[in-house]
Amino acid sequence: MISSQFGYALISKPMFSKTFLRNFMVAIKRCDKDMDKDNPKFTLSDLKEMFEIQKQYTLEESPIKDPLFIFQSWYRDAADSVGVLNPSIMCLATSSKTGIPSLRYMFCESFDTKGFRFFTYNTTRKGQDLKTNPYASLCFYWAPLLRSVRVEGPVNVLPSSESDELFNRRAYDMQVNIHCSTQSDRIQSFDVLNERELIVRNKFDPSKVPRPENFCWYNVSPIIYDFWQLRQKKERIRFRKSKPDEKIDGLTRKGEKDWLYEFIEP
Ligand SMILES: Cc1cc2nc3c(=O)[nH]c(=O)nc-3n(C[C@H](O)[C@H](O)[C@H](O)COP(=O)(O)O)c2cc1C
Repeated sequence: MISSQFGYALISKPMFSKTFLRNFMVAIKRCDKDMDKDNPKFTLSDLKEMFEIQKQYTLEESPIKDPLFIFQSWYRDAADSVGVLNPSIMCLATSSKTGIPSLRYMFCESFDTKGFRFFTYNTTRKGQDLKTNPYASLCFYWAPLLRSVRVEGPVNVLPSSESDELFNRRAYDMQVNIHCSTQSDRIQSFDVLNERELIVRNKFDPSKVPRPENFCWYNVSPIIYDFWQLRQKKERIRFRKSKPDEKIDGLTRKGEKDWLYEFIEP
């Protein structure tokens, strides 16, 4: 495991050879493939060395200009940091049809080349917001690392079959819990939840709990990543998807795939 407590300062920085960069790009592609396995805590032992090298560079100097790879590398640092209890906690912002924003903390269940996934009830405020305004902003903050990442993009609900599959993978207790709450309705007292739990446990066999129809998985497809850090150096880099025929001036640069990036005053 790479420990973030070792610090990132490096006195001398090696130059990149073309072979190194080529191998690095091959490794990133492999990493994309691995991430498709829907697991944010991926085990990418073959990339460990690459991550070590990536750590030696500030955002500005890094040869990596693929935002997902940078996110993955920062996520891994956060997961390895003793001070970060759960790196997957993010703040999710949605907005109503009339533009009223709301925020809440959420677990990011997984992320990969397709986007960032979370689960919730479509009947909640965020669920209602996303029905009429399917666009969200996510913000991760890993305090001990002095790093934050904002991700923005359109949101879609995963097909029922995929939500069913993900629900089936959940532990029985969590499935029961999901059945016991609407996360929205008013109740007389919290004892109501205990009564409901007994009913749900009696009703469903542990191996056959159906997904409540209003409980869904959502995917945010990033079109903007905004990385901010005070760690090695105060830095901020914004990646955004290029628009068709967009003219690029000296302050916007071409990243990997169809990403553009800009250094922003932090
Ligand atoms: C650390 C943390 C993680 C949470 N994760 C989730 C989650 O993954 N899904 C969810 O629906 N609510 C989660 N919640 C509860 C939400 O913050 C929120 O209260 C709830 O979803 C209702 O949100 P809404 O009424 O704004 O739609 C979490 C709360 C905390 C503090």
